[in-house]
Amino acid sequence: MTLKLGVNIDHVATLRQARRASRPDPLDAGAIALASGADFVVVHLRKDQRHIHQKDVANLCKLFPKQIHLECACSDFGEKAALTCKPHSVCIVPELPGEVTTTGGLNFTPAVQKRLFKMIEKLHKKHILVSLFVNPVAADLRIAAKLGADVVELCTAAYSQAKTQKQAQKLLQELTLAALLAQELGLKVHAGHGLDYHNVLAVADIGGISCMNIGFAIIARSLFTGLPAAVEEMKNLL
Ligand code: PXP
Repeated sequence: MTLKLGVNIDHVATLRQARRASRPDPLDAGAIALASGADFVVVHLRKDQRHIHQKDVANLCKLFPKQIHLECACSDFGEKAALTCKPHSVCIVPELPGEVTTTGGLNFTPAVQKRLFKMIEKLHKKHILVSLFVNPVAADLRIAAKLGADVVELCTAAYSQAKTQKQAQKLLQELTLAALLAQELGLKVHAGHGLDYHNVLAVADIGGISCMNIGFAIIARSLFTGLPAAVEEMKNLL
């Protein structure tokens, strides 16, 4: 299976917002990422719109209707934005106030499951593929399948923060088992969060993952190498 690469361009908008300016434009970043080998452009529309704005998502979806992967929360705001912008696919993620970045997979409380079920149904009616960001835990994968998700994105945050080789191996094993179970449940498997040019290799070796979503490492490297080289280098690793 060829591993696809989704390049998250949120932090191009972070730089723009540092000066509340109009550049660098995420639209330019999206075009360059796709021209340099990315299969998808990923954007996380947060409720506070601290980096990517809804207008960015709308413009990206108009320009690249089949290549925009939107991350948003299970909320009225996220749902409305997704249904209005109509990206190719949506990954529903947890969003906690004050967090620097997403800290883990969805917490499937009964109330969250009820809300997710409705949101997934609405997104499917608009022919939008739905992914759920999950921890690599069997019970959560079963819930994702039951709720009707098409894809699970396995959260690699814990693996990417492993302090020792032994810890990394244990977490990789969890990701491997989760990828196997997800496929058995009929789900497509993505992975992402905290991946970089070093730790991505072991995850890429896990069978069954079809797409990796990577942002911070690529945008950080692009400051020194340029975005085309940073994207090409990551794509070549997969
Ligand atoms: N996948 C999901 C669901 C995310 O929320 C994020 C961060 O927005 C990423 C992948 C990319 O993480 P990173 O920027 O650490 O590569």
